[in-house]
This record gives sequence, C-alpha cells and structure tokens, in this order.
Amino acid sequence: MADNTTYILPRDAPEEERLNFQHALLTKTFGGLYRAPLDPSHVRRVLDIGCGTGNWAIDYAKQNPNAQVIGFDVTGSPEWNTAPPNCTLIEANGEDDSAWVSFGDKFDYIHARLIVVSIRNWPSLFEKISNHLTSGGWCEIQDLQFPTHCLNGSTSAESKVVAWGHLMSSGMRKFGLDPNAINHFPQQMQHVGLVNAKTDEFKMMSGPWADTEHDRELGQMGNKNFHMGFRGFTTTVMKGAHGFSDEQVEDQVRGVLEEIDTLKFRTYVPLKVVYAQKS
Ligand SMILES: C[S@@+](CC[C@H](N)C(=O)[O-])C[C@H]1O[C@@H](n2cnc3c(N)ncnc32)[C@H](O)[C@@H]1O
Repeated sequence: MADNTTYILPRDAPEEERLNFQHALLTKTFGGLYRAPLDPSHVRRVLDIGCGTGNWAIDYAKQNPNAQVIGFDVTGSPEWNTAPPNCTLIEANGEDDSAWVSFGDKFDYIHARLIVVSIRNWPSLFEKISNHLTSGGWCEIQDLQFPTHCLNGSTSAESKVVAWGHLMSSGMRKFGLDPNAINHFPQQMQHVGLVNAKTDEFKMMSGPWADTEHDRELGQMGNKNFHMGFRGFTTTVMKGAHGFSDEQVEDQVRGVLEEIDTLKFRTYVPLKVVYAQKS
C-alpha cells in the first residue's frame, strides 16, 4: 500500500554497499564533493542531511580537518564508527524541529544528497535550513529528477527504462513524494531568504553510451549502480503504488537490466545540483 510515511528504498547491507559505490560515481560526476563556491577556510560548521553511511560527511571532514561536520540520518550505519574526530554522525529525523535544535550553533554549509526519495515537505525543510545557516552560508542539494530521459527521440517510447521512469514518477506521487521536486528548489530557497541560487545539470547514465571517454566511464559506473540497486529502487513503489506481483517486479528488473546492457537506448536519470546562499 502506498502511504505518506514509507521509505521507498531498502536500507540494508547491500544498499549500504551501493550507496558507497554511488558516492564514488557522484563525486566523479560533480568533480568533487560540492559545487557551491565555498571558501573552505571560512567553512567551520557543516551539516549533512540524510547522510546514509556517512560517506560524504566523512570525506568532507577528512579533506577539511579544521571543519566540524555533523551528519544525521533516521537510520544508523556501522560505517559511522570510521568517522574522524571532526565528524559526528547521529540518528535524527530531518523533518522533526526538535532534532534541528539539538544540532546547536548555525552552519556555514548545509548539504543533502539523494533525499527526494524521502522528504515530503520541502518548504518546511528549507525553512529549517535557512534558520540554521549563518549569513553568507551556503545550502546545496544534489538530487535526481524523475522520469528518466532518453536521447533516442521518437524510439524512446519502446525503452523499458523510460517506461519504468514514468511508473516510478507516478508511483512516487502516490507515496506523497514529488519526483520533480528539485525543479522547485530555486523558488523555494528564495522564499526562505536564500539568494544567488544556481542549478548545475548532470546525468546519471544507464550505460557507457556517451561519446567521450570520461562520460563513458561515468556511464559504466551508472550501469553498475543500476545493477546493484535496481531491484531495491523499484520493488516498494511498483508493489505499493501499482499493485505489481513479485513476478511482475522480477520481469521488470530482468527487462530493464537486460536493456541497459545492450546500449540500444541512451537513457539517463537527470541529476541536478542546486545551491543558494543565506543573505
Ligand atoms: C538514498 S539515501 C542517500 C544517502 C546519502 N545522502 C548518500 O548520498 O549516500 C537517503 C537517506 O535518507 C535517509 N532519510 C530518509 N528520510 C529521512 C529523514 N526524514 N531524516 C533524515 N534522514 C532521512 C535514509 O535513511 C537514507 O539513508
């Protein structure tokens, strides 16, 4: 059953392994951990919302030993034990006001990545972010936008990945999630007093179909990420929102994974980074 409380992805050991692999894919795609024009020497306090295994927060803390980094997630991870002394990882719910009070002083940089699968009330989250940013501090959200796209033009209607992307999009809505949320971030950020919003656009490619070697390498990693995670991406939404049986889910998984390996369709999930600054 689709409802407004379910987390639509798994949160088990294989998913943790996939999140760590995806971390490598994303930092390679973005050319680093962040896109906002930070001056790291002035960034003393950093917050990572929905930090998962803590991979991003731990790397930021290691690269910036003078910064104090807090990461939080509703679910803990064994990997949090590997955090350096300047990185604190805690269990908390980002939609809960009291959790934010417990984070203490304001932050110079607030980051979140791939949480459109979980946040239902974005205006409220941006209000919390704005209230906890120092003047001149930056907020940055790195996330996916559904449905999937395909560069093959009119033939894309035949693609199983494209068909899946549409089902995922309508299914997320039934779970109270906005698959297109990232496109509203610039206006929502402006509404809470964040200025100079900028969006950088990338692709999470389903295979190595691109023209340049760099992008083919990213596509190869994207393909592996799909193979590692696809059953987990789709099961809850297809069953809960579209009434799929186990067999229908397995057919979809098989069809999509076979298709991405053929490179017949140049499919990708749009990946965007939106950042803005507290006035
Ligand atoms: C797709 S994972 C991304 C994890 C991490 N940001 C990354 O990029 O590797 C989304 C994470 O958000 C967490 N999450 C979901 N709802 C949350 C909430 N309300 N507050 C904090 N974390 C949440 C989930 O437990 C999960 O670890």
